Amino acid sequence: MNRRELIKGLGMASASLPFLAMNFRPESTFKEWIGTFTDDKVKDEAYWKKFKKEFYDVSKDFINLENGFFGVQSVPVYKAYLKNIERLNMNSSKYLRTEYGNDLKEIMQQLGEFSGVSSEELLITRNATEAMNIIINGLDLNEGDEVILHKQDYYSMIEAFEMLERQKGIKIKVIKVPLVPQNDEEILSKYEAAVTPKTKCILVTHMIHLTGQIMPVKKIADKFKPRGIDVIVDAAHSFAQVDYSLSDLNCDFVGVNLHKWFGNPLGAGLLYVKRDRIKDLKPMFGDSSKEEGDIRRLGHFGTLSVPIVMTIPDAKAFNDMVTIPLKEKRLRYLQNYWTKEATGIPKVTVTTPTSDPARSCAIASFAIEGMKTEDVISGLLERHKVFTVIRHLEDQDVVRVTPNLYNNTAEMDVLLEGIKDLAS
Ligand SMILES: Cc1ncc(COP(=O)(O)O)c(C=O)c1O
Repeated sequence: MNRRELIKGLGMASASLPFLAMNFRPESTFKEWIGTFTDDKVKDEAYWKKFKKEFYDVSKDFINLENGFFGVQSVPVYKAYLKNIERLNMNSSKYLRTEYGNDLKEIMQQLGEFSGVSSEELLITRNATEAMNIIINGLDLNEGDEVILHKQDYYSMIEAFEMLERQKGIKIKVIKVPLVPQNDEEILSKYEAAVTPKTKCILVTHMIHLTGQIMPVKKIADKFKPRGIDVIVDAAHSFAQVDYSLSDLNCDFVGVNLHKWFGNPLGAGLLYVKRDRIKDLKPMFGDSSKEEGDIRRLGHFGTLSVPIVMTIPDAKAFNDMVTIPLKEKRLRYLQNYWTKEATGIPKVTVTTPTSDPARSCAIASFAIEGMKTEDVISGLLERHKVFTVIRHLEDQDVVRVTPNLYNNTAEMDVLLEGIKDLAS
């Protein structure tokens, strides 16, 4: 091959390998699905059966009702991810040194559009825990400052605050919120009772991982922010499961992940910091090159898994196709479908607020009186092939049930049969 042929060959290779900008193009690949995710489909099992066949490849050996850990990628997103791994490996550092910067700008724009904030207020992290740690360790909390946590917050965030308690002498106050609150005021009153002039920060888990309870984050922020208290939000489960934008929360600091309900490959999260508060976080990782107020200053943690980041536009495209409002309605329908009936089964207690749609969505949990929760989990799996997970809730253990979009009411019926069988 002479030099001209070689250069021509290289040109063709790069022309046929456009990097980013979506391997999965719903507008061309799945045209017939666009615009079909309408309210009349929420209860249309035939539609969701076809949807599953088209978009998901999951094991037929068991019914997975433990989608709270991470979200199975849809087939187009998974294929895009594989392609991205291959492309990066083929083009290696040339791509990273010459093109990735521009692609990353585009990815950030898309994330900003999806989450309803400016891309300059967002930073990609490896997961929600990392995003939340950047917030928790970055806040100016000192000896005697008080923070309010909820007994059901995620353990990693509680532990991050406990570390500050040991290192800096901050004071942690832990409140309890009823499993089924009467109204938002009841929740607000629990926080009010714990707030003192020394309170600097309240951690709120938007959707509690143990029960699925949705907390009234905006009302908490509206009430306590004017008193100079930072309300920081762990939105690991609400992001891309329920319909809201980050700016709706009226909170300056939010951590999420992209591998749960957003459906990206495992290993990506997102930090949101309101523009004028970026300078108030002390970087956890050494950085002296970026200016104060540049969110990238908080993310000097080295190279991320680039193919995972490159797949974000594909995951976004999938969510855009399904539309978050319909995703939320369908997931809530599946949850209500089983919790409504389970509530009437003798010895069964549903530990999720289910009657008010604003208080829960896909996630719900239950317990069977007189039975060890481990035995319920293993009974469901061994006798009914239903996979769920145990969660430790304050003074009791519960079974957490989390359907995703590829689940259907027939599978919920199998779960209900299993619950009846074990409770009898
Ligand atoms: C409420 C909540 N916050 C944070 C996390 C941690 O997410 P990640 O694994 O992305 O750090 C989880 C994980 O299940 C969670 O349920």
